[in-house]
Amino acid sequence: MKEDSLTISQIYAKGKKNLEKMGVERWFPPDSDIAASARLNRKYLDSLFFETSFFDPVDVDTSLAIFGAKLRTPVFCAAISRLAHMSDADMVDIARGLNNAGSLLMLGIGGSQALQGAIDTGVPVVKMVKPYRETELIYEKVREAGERGCVAVGMDIDHFYGTLREDRPALTELFGPQRTDELKEVFSQTRLPVIIKGVLSVSDAEKAAQLGVSAIVVSNHGRGSVDFSVPSMIALPRIVDRVGDKVTVLVDTGFKTGNDVLKPLAFGARAVGFASSIVLALAADGANGVELLVNQITAELKRTMAVTGCPNLSAVNRSIIVQVSGIG
Ligand SMILES: Cc1cc2nc3c(=O)[nH]c(=O)nc-3n(C[C@H](O)[C@H](O)[C@H](O)COP(=O)(O)O)c2cc1C
Repeated sequence: MKEDSLTISQIYAKGKKNLEKMGVERWFPPDSDIAASARLNRKYLDSLFFETSFFDPVDVDTSLAIFGAKLRTPVFCAAISRLAHMSDADMVDIARGLNNAGSLLMLGIGGSQALQGAIDTGVPVVKMVKPYRETELIYEKVREAGERGCVAVGMDIDHFYGTLREDRPALTELFGPQRTDELKEVFSQTRLPVIIKGVLSVSDAEKAAQLGVSAIVVSNHGRGSVDFSVPSMIALPRIVDRVGDKVTVLVDTGFKTGNDVLKPLAFGARAVGFASSIVLALAADGANGVELLVNQITAELKRTMAVTGCPNLSAVNRSIIVQVSGIG
C-alpha cells in the first residue's frame, strides 16, 4: 500500500508493528491503555457527539498563530523526549515532519544538539524544562531556550515526584516540587512566552495565571506522574471557564484522531498535543510518517469542522457538542 494512503489507524498499527520488530514493547506511556485516567478520558471523549449542519457547507481554515508562530493546524507534538530506541537524528526527523505539516514541537528532556537540530528544521520549538531539584539547571535550560531561538519555554510541574515507571516512582532525586515564588524568579529572566504543563485543577490554573504565564497545558502526562489524576478532557472545561480569558489553554493526553481534536477545541482549548502517537508515526515511516499523521488528523478535523458549520477555529465552540451518557 502506498504510504501516503495510510489512514490514522494504519499509521498506528504500522508503528506498533515496527517497534515490536525492533524489540520495543514499552513504547510509552507504559499503562496508557489500562490506567483509570486514560480509560475514563477515552470514555468521556467517546460520549461527546457532534451537532451536524449538513446544509450550506463552509470552507474550512485550520490555521492559527501561537507564541508568534503561524501554524496550519492546531495539532502539535506534546512535550517529547527521546526513548531508548531513538536517536537525536530521530528527534530531528520528528521536527522535520512537524515542520512540513505546519505544526509545532514541544521538546522535553534532551541535550543542546537535539534542540538545535530541531530548531534548524524551521519548526517552532517550545522547550519544556523539567522541575529539577537543582535550580541552577533550570536557569541554564531556560536561558538556553532563549539563546537558541525557541518560541516559548515552560515546565512540566507535575513531575515533581519523578515519573511513574511500572507503578514505581523514578527519577525522584532529579526532579522536585517547585514553589510559585521561585518559578516567578526563574521565568522573570526570560523574554519568551512561558508555559506551565501538567495543570489539572482550577487552583493550579489560577496560580499559573498569577505567575503571568502565556499558556498552560492541561495534561496528566499520560498517567506519567500520578494514578487517578483527573483526565485532561474532564479537567479542561472547568479550567477554561476559570482562566481561559487570561491564558492560552492547550491540552494533551489520550487524543488519537481529528475528531478527538475537535472536542477539546470546542471546550476552549486552543491546540491539542499528541506525544505517543508521534512516536508511533516516527516508527511507521520516519519524518514522512510524522508529517502524514499530522496531515491525516488535520484532514479529519477539517471534515468534521465542515459538517459542524465551523469555517475556522474561532467559530468552534461548545454548541457543536452533544453529550450522550447513561445509555447501555
Ligand atoms: C516519548 C515520550 C517522551 C516524553 N517526554 C516528556 C518530557 O520530557 N516532558 C514532558 O513534559 N512530557 C513528556 N512526555 C509526556 C507527553 O508530553 C504527554 O503529556 C503524554 O505522553 C500524554 O500524551 P499522549 O497520550 O498523546 O501520549 C513524553 C511522552 C512521550 C511519548
